[in-house]
Amino acid sequence: MFNLVVEMNTQKIRKDFPVLEKGIIYMDSACVSLKPQQVVKAMNCYYNEFPACAGRSMHKLGEKVTEEVSKARKIIAKFFNAKPNEIVFTKNTTESINLVANSLGLKKGDKVITTDKEHNSNLLPWQNLAKRGIIHEIIKSNEDNTFNMDKFKEKIKGAKLVSMVHTSNLDGVTIPAEEIIKIAHEHGALVLLDAAQSVPHKEINVKKLDVDFLACSGHKMLGPSGTGILYGKYHLLEKLEPFLIGGDTVIDTTYTTAEFEKPPEKFEAGLQNYAGIIGLAEAARYLMKIGRKNISKHETELNKKITNELLKIDGIKIIGPEDPELRSGIISFNYKDADPHEIALLLDSSADIMVRSGAHCVHSWFNAHNLKGSARVSLYIYNTEEECDKLIEEINKIVEL
Ligand SMILES: Cc1ncc(COP(=O)(O)O)c(C=O)c1O
Repeated sequence: MFNLVVEMNTQKIRKDFPVLEKGIIYMDSACVSLKPQQVVKAMNCYYNEFPACAGRSMHKLGEKVTEEVSKARKIIAKFFNAKPNEIVFTKNTTESINLVANSLGLKKGDKVITTDKEHNSNLLPWQNLAKRGIIHEIIKSNEDNTFNMDKFKEKIKGAKLVSMVHTSNLDGVTIPAEEIIKIAHEHGALVLLDAAQSVPHKEINVKKLDVDFLACSGHKMLGPSGTGILYGKYHLLEKLEPFLIGGDTVIDTTYTTAEFEKPPEKFEAGLQNYAGIIGLAEAARYLMKIGRKNISKHETELNKKITNELLKIDGIKIIGPEDPELRSGIISFNYKDADPHEIALLLDSSADIMVRSGAHCVHSWFNAHNLKGSARVSLYIYNTEEECDKLIEEINKIVEL
């Protein structure tokens, strides 16, 4: 069945995800996405055909791994319109953000700005540096949880770094990154985007955006877990001190000195997750083939359908703006004072519908709003209108209970 709104053949896509044959309705992709068989095959290919080490061994298998990792870096660079040497492979978004936080050389009195909706991964590194004297300032969102540009313009003066969640995993809202980056640069501040929730769903052109650093995770974009990316402008990566050091980060050492590699190698310490990197590149290729604009449209259409029905139910409160066009593929909601975990468990036990519940690692926001958490539906390329109908039917049953 072709989705009428966009050129995306959802039924054909679904065949690439064997786990869907179990009849499950997977709506937890903001946590971890499913993996298409193409990604699994690419990873198995490494293990079955050239399970060796890149960049060290001269033999045929070693050479093959080096070549495949280099190819993977080029594909990821193309995915972001970056240069291959601006792509650092990490373990996940968390590691990418920690790398910047610990390598940028921020000093006592330097100001870092975040939003009030940061994932713990983009909160704790700055809280930690604040203990050593950096100033961490938070921009409070508007009433509807959208970005408050006026407050940002007030706080940006004197900032060294703006580190913000691009698309929020709490409510799906995307900040106006292009404008934020322009203003930050006019004030001499660098910008790091936590793009864990935007990269899987939106086309991101780092050159057009002019972003300085961008962090994301493979496991949310159809790729393997344990893989992540840090994009950085090359001249900035050159200035960063490596955060993890050891094998593969150096050209030469004596007992007392070390000559470091250039970026990105100087940041990729120790033997890498080669199968993961190769799988991640395959995931990027898969997403490019479908077209990220089509993905965004598909998710928004499904979100509209769910939102329209949910808002008909008395007592349902959606976190963030009610307009689904502003929440990408995420619907985070509460029903009166029902426990969100109970809603998630009932959906799972009654209809194999998998959603996330709790604080989604944004405890700080929930604590500030005196809420325990929410139930969160998050959509992706394999979700269908029929699945959305089933979700609404089941939520209505829960409400009747
Ligand atoms: C917005 C956002 N930032 C950061 C992270 C952390 O990602 P990871 O656990 O892959 O490092 C997540 C994961 O849910 C996220 O949604």
